[in-house]
Parts: sequence; C-alpha cells; structure tokens
Amino acid sequence: MVTVPPFSMLILGIETSCDETGVALYCTERGLLAEALHSQVDLHAVYGGVVPEIASRDHVRMLLPLIQRVMDEAAIEKPDAIAYTAGPGLVGALMVGGGMANGLGLAWDCPVIPVHHMEGHLLAPMLEDEPPAYPFLALLVSGGHSMLIRVRSLGDYRVLGTTLDDAVGEAFDKTAKLLGLGYPGGPALAKLAETGDETAYDFPRPMVNKPTMDFSFSGLKTAVMLEVRKAETEGRLEESRADLAASFQRAAVDTLVAKSIRAARAEGLERIVVAGGVGANKLLRKEIADRFDGEVYYPRLAFCTDNGAMIAVAGALRLADAATAGQIRARARWSLESLGIPGR
Ligand SMILES: Nc1ncnc2c1ncn2[C@@H]1O[C@H](COP(=O)(O)OP(=O)(O)OP(=O)(O)O)[C@@H](O)[C@H]1O
Ligand SMILES: [Mg+2]
Repeated sequence: MVTVPPFSMLILGIETSCDETGVALYCTERGLLAEALHSQVDLHAVYGGVVPEIASRDHVRMLLPLIQRVMDEAAIEKPDAIAYTAGPGLVGALMVGGGMANGLGLAWDCPVIPVHHMEGHLLAPMLEDEPPAYPFLALLVSGGHSMLIRVRSLGDYRVLGTTLDDAVGEAFDKTAKLLGLGYPGGPALAKLAETGDETAYDFPRPMVNKPTMDFSFSGLKTAVMLEVRKAETEGRLEESRADLAASFQRAAVDTLVAKSIRAARAEGLERIVVAGGVGANKLLRKEIADRFDGEVYYPRLAFCTDNGAMIAVAGALRLADAATAGQIRARARWSLESLGIPGR
C-alpha cells in the first residue's frame, strides 16, 4: 500500500477488458480532462463475436498511441496514478492493459490501481454534472452481465439478482443475429425496432411475475427464434423483421424495468442507476424514467459501453487501493461483492 496525498490527483484510466481500447485522464478537482476510445468492432464483425487473440493484439497496437494522445491533449507529462481494468474480462486483453499500467507505473514512479470493470460501469454516472447520491439501486446491463445491485456506499455492494443464462446484451446481440443484423447487434436492433410495431408479437416477459430478482433471457430469445423460422417458412421474414425487433425490445425492456422498480421498492431505495452497454437503449431509459417514482441516473451515452473514463473515475474513488507498480493483476472472473470499501 502507498499513502495517497489528500490533494488534487491526476489519474490515467486504462480499459482493455474486451474489444474496446479506452484511455482517459481524470482529475479529482477538475473532472475529465481527455479521453480516447478505439473500437475493435470491425475486426471481430467478420467472426460474429469477439476473438480473444485478435482483441489482445489490437490492444497492444493501439494502447500506447491512445495514451500519448490523451496526455498531449491534456498537456500532461505524467499522471499521479494509473487505474487499469484488472477484471472481469478476457485474460489476454486484461494483461495488455495491466502490463502497460504497471510498466508505466514503474517508469513514472507512480502507483497503480486495479479496477473492477463492472464497478467502472456502476460508477460511470459519477462523471456527470449531477451524480447520484448513495444509496441507490444499480441496474447493470451489458454484453456479459445483467445485475441488480443494492449500493449502500462505494464498495458496499449486494447483488440482488443476476442472469441465470444469457446477459441481456447477449440476448440483444443473438436476436439481432437471427434478424440478419451485424455484430454487435444491440444498437442495430434498437434502430430497426423504431420502425416496427411492438405489439405485433406477444413475447414472454421472462420471470417477471416471480418474486426472484434474477433474470433469464434464453426463453425470450427462443420465442423470437421460433417466430423468425415461421416468418421465414411463410416467406414474410423481410417485412416482419422490424416488428420482431420492436416486440423483442419491448419484452426485454418491460422485464428489466419491472424487476428494477420492484427491487428498488423492496429495498426502500429512491434512486436507480442504469449503466452498462444496454443502458444506452433509448426505450429502456425512457420507460424506467416514466415508470419509477424516484430519481433515475445514467451515464452519457458514450460512457454506457466500455470506456477509459469510467475506469479513471473508479480509480480516483479507489485511490486508497493504490499499490506500488510491478504486479499485474488480471482476473477472468471477479465477484463485485468481494471488493469491499476502498482501503480495506
Ligand atoms: N442501444 C442499445 N440497445 C440495446 N443494447 C445495446 C445498445 N447499445 C449497446 N448495446 C449492447 O451493449 C453490449 C455492450 O456493452 P458493454 O460494452 O458494456 O458490454 P461488455 O463490456 O461487452 O460486457 P461486460 O461489461 O459485461 O464485460 C452489447 O451487447 C450491445 O449489443
Ligand atoms: Mg463492459
């Protein structure tokens, strides 16, 4: 452990857990100074999903130039600390960010802060002008996770519900694939849904009437698949695609909103934070704001999906966990509840 001085600190954030190379500079006094993002989507699109080895190699190619870019933009020679995503994620990809963070930490003689990727998503709304106060309910919905979390304070997390099968982002991606849309499918499906009739198909709202806070999306995905096959056999798939997309999106959003509101009420929480890639979904943002009688917070759209800014701000809030550079941490799986309060 190193002692962290209680004055303004400049944190370099590095995100490389999956298929986005994200870098940002965050100042504890002045906020976000610069950020840069490189998406690998085009590299993986031909394979229909993320290829881990290609992801790692591309992080190696892009990370240093992006760091140079944000340092130049903010006119900074060296940060006070470096925060990097240490998991959960693809181990090879995490090693690239962790290796760079620790190498630079040794060169610049500054401490490093290993950050939990999902805590980064959860804290992304702290970058906004009006950040949420504690306690709140977090709906974390991304490509790999669907979680309802009771957040009492920084690091005091209890997972109330999680997905039993596919994450909701994965369900969007797989359904998009069924509808002949590219990877990643979530944004494309949401766009197609804008022109469709969401009442055309009555898809199941998975487990919405059960008391559990857990989610399950594979049944919904299968229901869409059966309708896609039927439409194909009947030669009307092309004209049905928008209706299928809209009806799927409505069912998924209804499920997320109903469960989030129920969880917030059960826990007596007056604030909901929606974060993670699916948090960029316009219908989800609108419905939860319309139907919840408390306050709803989201990160700006660009900070819903993976980015370096959320890692930098999470690092700033976890300065008490800063360690001397030299030991790379990379964990494919990592429980959010195990994090605990910073510095303990
Ligand atoms: N507008 C949208 N509507 C629905 N889904 C969306 C939208 N925009 C992005 N997504 C989905 O968000 C996911 C990507 O989010 P994110 O980058 O947070 O996930 P990840 O980093 O791959 O997963 P994790 O954070 O769980 O490791 C994809 O599944 C994508 O389809
Ligand atoms: Mg993510």
